[in-house]
Amino acid sequence: MTQRRADGWATRFGLIMAMAGNAVGLGNFLRFPGRAAPFGGAFMVPYFLALVLVGIPLMWMEWTIGRHGGGFDHGSAPGMFHRLWSNRISKYLGIFGVLLPAMVGIYYIYIESWSLGYAWQTATGVYWGQTSNEEMGQVFSSYLGMDGGFFSFSPQAYLFFLITFAVNVFVFSRGIERGIEIVARYCMPTLLVLGAILAVRVLTLPPVEGRTISDGLAQIWRIDDWSVLLHSDVWIAATGQIFFTLSVGLGMVHTYASYLKKKHDITLSGLASCGTNEFVEVILGSTIAIPAAVVFFGVTQTQAIAAEGTFALGFFALPVIFQQMPWGQFFGTLWFILLFLAGLTSSMAMFTPLLVFLEDELQLTRRQSVCYVGIAIFLLMHPIILFMHHGMVDEIDYWMAEFGLVLFVAIETVIFTWVFGIDKGWKEMHLGAELQVPRIFYYIMKYVTPVFTCGLVVWWFYDSFFDQVLMRGVDPASRPFLWVARLMILGVALFLVWGVWYAWKTHPKFFEPIEPEIEEEAT
Ligand code: PHE
Repeated sequence: MTQRRADGWATRFGLIMAMAGNAVGLGNFLRFPGRAAPFGGAFMVPYFLALVLVGIPLMWMEWTIGRHGGGFDHGSAPGMFHRLWSNRISKYLGIFGVLLPAMVGIYYIYIESWSLGYAWQTATGVYWGQTSNEEMGQVFSSYLGMDGGFFSFSPQAYLFFLITFAVNVFVFSRGIERGIEIVARYCMPTLLVLGAILAVRVLTLPPVEGRTISDGLAQIWRIDDWSVLLHSDVWIAATGQIFFTLSVGLGMVHTYASYLKKKHDITLSGLASCGTNEFVEVILGSTIAIPAAVVFFGVTQTQAIAAEGTFALGFFALPVIFQQMPWGQFFGTLWFILLFLAGLTSSMAMFTPLLVFLEDELQLTRRQSVCYVGIAIFLLMHPIILFMHHGMVDEIDYWMAEFGLVLFVAIETVIFTWVFGIDKGWKEMHLGAELQVPRIFYYIMKYVTPVFTCGLVVWWFYDSFFDQVLMRGVDPASRPFLWVARLMILGVALFLVWGVWYAWKTHPKFFEPIEPEIEEEAT
């Protein structure tokens, strides 16, 4: 038995909290309100459709692929795909499932550290007195050290980055049971309580200049203009948000699921983790940022703030609002702690596929892989921090969390439903199941999910791929830095290609025949 397989989920509660924590992240509290606000309530129509037609089916699929691969001692997508499809290229396609989360993690941890930094700044009242959005925008730039110099660097942001980085490395170095599971078991319930406190605070806000909290809620829940649904952008934004928030299409869910026992329930647990994420996003996430901003600033300005970027609502608008409410410093601190916990329970999942790949396929020990990964990501994070102002985060985010994610989702659905076969897949998914999935999902998974995801890839090519490749509209001064970002991605990808090639060439476990094990086991 390998060292890794000795590790695993100790409790079902821990597993569900970890999977939900993996999904619940900055996306729920920052990205969701930012994406929904410009469209009004109409956003929720494609959002729920995408949840049912692609989000939940994908979640079940990824749990199944993960548990199946784990049964062959593979904890990351290359080995998992190899077991689904015995073709030479399948393992190379699986590289996405290691590359994407690791590259996202490289900038995600930095953003997570801002929440910690802001929790501190709010608790100590550093920015108190900066009472407009513009002023808070300045506070944000100076926090990041973006003051027009060659580097964006500030000792304060760097210190909080080091702390956040150390916490993450410490957690993932302890593995699943003694690290990730323990953190999830405590942080997730805390996060839910903090989210609920903030939601109640916002719901009980008194009207400001005649604007009430119901006006704020209407911005998310009332559809004034159905014609919004005739444009493709709301559909793409909503589907992208579903992928992002559930953390599907990255390889992170696969790795967590690889630690399941062969007959551990997937259907009910998968649904429970989706449900928790949706509760946090749709109930808590939608009740805090947008309604509060609408009460204080009105609908038009809220939409303008949301359009400024993902961080404008959470880091500019809310701090302005906290300064105007009683006990604002206390609630503001809770808000940033909430963001930090949401970020942590996601980022600690982002490097596990890479760590586990090194352990399972390249036969390194846990200690070695933590050491190498720790050093490598620490180095890779520096260009991102220092050249933040040139848009490196957006470049990596586009290639990994948007385009790459959609591509990986399409690849995995096609492999699972058409190559491995949905019949086998359906049986595998129901091994030990505590919930019989309604038959309609069989057809959804067989036709709707793969066709939809392949269609999305085509759409991405058509819509933004070439503009992005050619850096259209990018300031020439920033271009070299975006090339650095691309080279970083390419470097890590090439390393993984080599890793897969080397592992399969040298390790005997890959030459064992692929047994059709589910036929005998299924009842
Ligand atoms: N789902 C998490 C979030 O909402 C983590 C995540 C981050 C997933 C980035 C994909 C990309 O923040």
